[in-house]
Amino acid sequence: MRRRLSAGTRRGRDFVPVAYSVAAMRIAITGGTGFVGSHLASHLAEQGHELVVISRGARASGAAGPAATRVTADVVSGSGLAAAFAGCDAVVNLVAVIVERRGQTFDAVNRQGAANVARAAVEAGVGHLVQLSALGADPDPRFGYLASKWSGEQAIRISGIPHTILRSSLVFGPGDGFFVKLARLIRRTPPFFPLPIAGDGRTLFQPIAAQDVARCIAIALERGPDPRVLAIGGPDHLSYEQIVDIIRRQVVSLPRMKVHIPVPAIRPVAALMAAVMRDPLVTPAQLDLLGHHNITVPGAVAAGFGFEPQRFADRAGYLRRRSR
Ligand SMILES: NC(=O)c1ccc[n+]([C@@H]2O[C@H](COP(=O)([O-])OP(=O)(O)OC[C@H]3O[C@@H](n4cnc5c(N)ncnc54)[C@H](OP(=O)(O)O)[C@@H]3O)[C@@H](O)[C@H]2O)c1
Repeated sequence: MRRRLSAGTRRGRDFVPVAYSVAAMRIAITGGTGFVGSHLASHLAEQGHELVVISRGARASGAAGPAATRVTADVVSGSGLAAAFAGCDAVVNLVAVIVERRGQTFDAVNRQGAANVARAAVEAGVGHLVQLSALGADPDPRFGYLASKWSGEQAIRISGIPHTILRSSLVFGPGDGFFVKLARLIRRTPPFFPLPIAGDGRTLFQPIAAQDVARCIAIALERGPDPRVLAIGGPDHLSYEQIVDIIRRQVVSLPRMKVHIPVPAIRPVAALMAAVMRDPLVTPAQLDLLGHHNITVPGAVAAGFGFEPQRFADRAGYLRRRSR
């Protein structure tokens, strides 16, 4: 049974209502302990929704609050998902990998995992599945991550589950897997060394804050299934080199020389890092992203979701904090 709630945000101990109200739902989030998942869980918990947070349990997460139910399940086998979804109004699928290792391949997790989530949601009688996909999702098999994200979308479409597919540009915020690593690379490059820029630096991105992705998903949940593919991104188109400049200003005080290194020259290093490091600085799939602009229209979120997303340049201060 849905309850009507006032939506709002918590400032200190005060709940600050906003001008609309949302119906409280029971929502399962697969991948709810990850980077985007943690932001979404805390946003939905603040709105008063009841949450079921599902992952393999490799990382801790308190983001969903003490009232959330935590379930350990693997989307690759799909076992236990339907039981976890029982009684849920909606499911949000945030499980994906950007580095392949052992059983966690792009195909197994990003395609088959999405198919298993969709099938289990149908079995459990869930009314709405929200899938977070990526801008650039495309069947071209040369780009494994993007092709698997596309296949995941198709699996959901043919499953019969009422759904909404959001395609996001790069997501930033504490705990992200891209900007934080660039900050680390810049911090670790000796001051007299030029900063390495992969490729010509001209590929465009549209960084969107994790809290804004969470807001878009919450609005999609409230609106219900939508047959369109909804592209989301921040307010600015920024070239890769502009992104590096913004991060550099956060982490080191003096300007640095830059050197452009062709992507094919970096690819073997990235493949080696992905094979031997638990948390590689750059992955082959991320290098693939440099091959295509990763953008939608700058006003996509304002037009599609009714709010102004935050600018990366205004919100990059979190990158000053050191991480490993
Ligand atoms: N981050 C971005 O810039 C970005 C941009 C566009 C789209 N997206 C999409 O947004 C979604 C979330 O990305 P993210 O950056 O938040 O990823 P993330 O931080 O790596 O989180 C992945 C989540 O999935 C869980 N997981 C991984 N493998 C699993 C499996 N086999 N079965 C069940 N759970 C599994 C992880 O927990 P365990 O490891 O404990 O299982 C974790 O909770 C993905 O679909 C991604 O494609 C992200």
